[in-house]
Amino acid sequence: MRRLLVFTGKGGVGKSVISAATALKLSDLGYTVALISTDPAHTISAYLDIPLGKDIVKVNERVDLYYIDPVLEVMKKFRNMSEYFLEWLRKYGIDEVLAYELAMLPMVTESMGLLKALELYESGKYNVVIIDTIPSAEALRLLYLPTILNSIRSRMIKVSMSIMRTTAKMLSVILSPASKLGKVVEEEEVFFNETTKLSNIITNPEISSVRVIANPDTSSVDDAIKSVGLAQVFNLNVDLGIMNKISPIEEWAKQQEEYVRRFEMSVYPIPVRRIRQEGIEVKGCDALRRLADNLYGEDDPVKIFYVGKIVNVREVEEGKYVLEMMMPPGVQDCGNVYFQGDELVIEVITDRGVVEKIYPLPTMLKLAQPVKAYVKDRRLIIEFVRTGQQ
Ligand SMILES: Nc1ncnc2c1ncn2[C@@H]1O[C@H](COP(=O)(O)OP(=O)(O)O)[C@@H](O)[C@H]1O
Ligand SMILES: [Mg+2]
Repeated sequence: MRRLLVFTGKGGVGKSVISAATALKLSDLGYTVALISTDPAHTISAYLDIPLGKDIVKVNERVDLYYIDPVLEVMKKFRNMSEYFLEWLRKYGIDEVLAYELAMLPMVTESMGLLKALELYESGKYNVVIIDTIPSAEALRLLYLPTILNSIRSRMIKVSMSIMRTTAKMLSVILSPASKLGKVVEEEEVFFNETTKLSNIITNPEISSVRVIANPDTSSVDDAIKSVGLAQVFNLNVDLGIMNKISPIEEWAKQQEEYVRRFEMSVYPIPVRRIRQEGIEVKGCDALRRLADNLYGEDDPVKIFYVGKIVNVREVEEGKYVLEMMMPPGVQDCGNVYFQGDELVIEVITDRGVVEKIYPLPTMLKLAQPVKAYVKDRRLIIEFVRTGQQ
């Protein structure tokens, strides 16, 4: 059995700390682990109390930490492709410095981390591959972007290749740029094959689990809920929600409960686990092991905590849609349902008061209006009718 664990959430929620803690717990259980850090500051090495290294550092006999420098990775594997892209940007009058920045969009950064994860997963050397930095919900979109982008660029290159070949024939000379273009196409092919393989692995719930982390504050909870919604759209299996930094002071923890409940309600039935806020910085292997015990308890971190979609949207007849979600015990009824930006806010009436459930709307429902919402057999059902305008 081999697993790929992806920890996501807003900056500062604890992705690096939890990734490192998970790696240590796994190694204690006898698994071999590759831990991938794409964060330029590589904070993870400070948490593990190991010197900042280059490429790969052994954390212990079973855990290897990989430092990814996306720019170097791109240059190593896709040099011709990125140079071609740069030339193309320059041709359209984009100045050199900006062209370099554009060629290194965050998308490229994250893609390189993910392609490294694929390589390590396929090497068979590790039982578990952990990816630390995929900051913010939007990053999940990036999992799909390379595939789309690549197919567009492939086509573009193929057209220019055929023009160049014809020109070369006409002039009866072999133009060297044509052979360079050949390399570009080869690299494009590799990129395409790898991103396709990656998509297959990352959407297989038996292999990959996305774990979404939040803290008890509005913005990180909203971001986490958005991540779960996007994951649904992209067929990524979120098996666990993590509410990190719960205050050890009872009175404060009580106030934070509102955020926990909102998170739980919005991602139900995906389980949400809690981690206590430590008094001091989580640093060093002992502190990380304590945090891992706090999170996983008796459970093995490779366990698949949940499989499945949390929402079902279907078109029942032309222009009429039904959205269905499971509701936790204690839900009595449904209050107001309204749009807030790109999100649907549902007021859920529970035996402990009203809780807001937030759901990032799939594009399909953006041109529709909710006309009826009710709870039946612990299912929330919302009917939509397409109006043609927002
Ligand atoms: N449960 C916790 N208790 C106390 N401090 C924590 C806890 N989890 C994370 N931290 C601290 O929060 C900060 C951000 O954590 P980090 O893992 O670097 O976040 P991210 O990788 O998501 O940006 C660090 O200083 C870390 O020590
Ligand atoms: Mg980090």
